[in-house]
Amino acid sequence: MARICWVTAPIYAALGMILGLVMAASGDHTLAPAHGHLNLLGWVTIALYGAFYTLVPLAAESRLARLQVLLAEIGVVTAVPGIAMAIMGMGEGLAKVGSLIILAAMLLFVFIVIRTVGQPAATA
Ligand code: HEM
Ligand code: HEM
Repeated sequence: MARICWVTAPIYAALGMILGLVMAASGDHTLAPAHGHLNLLGWVTIALYGAFYTLVPLAAESRLARLQVLLAEIGVVTAVPGIAMAIMGMGEGLAKVGSLIILAAMLLFVFIVIRTVGQPAATA
């Protein structure tokens, strides 16, 4: 789980930076919220999940952790294009669905943290 997070987070960062550079170069900042959330949900949030699962390997072992990471990843790849579509007037549906998946991933993460942190043998 940690590995999936560590590999995908910098990919989102690179894509987010490319979008940032394209915006800066073109002077068209319309997609700034999509760029911001690609960086913040894709790079920052996923990297934090990766850091947690590295520091607390016990948490990464459960099936629930697999579901948590899966939801977080699906959330990024649906919400970010969804935000871009919403900005371009192509509908808000995908952004809404993606946001709810991201929220579900975070709520699951809260549960996993509470369940594992403080347990003997939880930390690396
Ligand atoms: C090569 C790196 C990057 C470039 C060239 C870049 C470029 C930009 C540009 C041009 C804007 C629009 C500014 C405006 O219209 O006021 C912007 C907004 C933003 N960027 Fe970046 N950025 C980069 C990296 C990052 C990273 C690493 C993060 C977060 C971890 C980030 C987070 C944001 C946020 C939150 C916004 C505001 C979004 C909004 O207004 O909704 N950016 N960036
Ligand atoms: C389900 C998750 C999220 C939803 C639905 C959401 C929604 C939004 C919305 C609707 C905006 C206003 C965009 C606009 O003005 O055009 C916004 C802006 C922003 N969000 Fe999020 N967000 C989420 C997660 C996050 C996370 C995890 C972070 C940081 C780690 C973050 C950081 C920001 C920042 C920095 C801005 C720009 C604020 C500004 O321009 O003053 N968001 N978000």
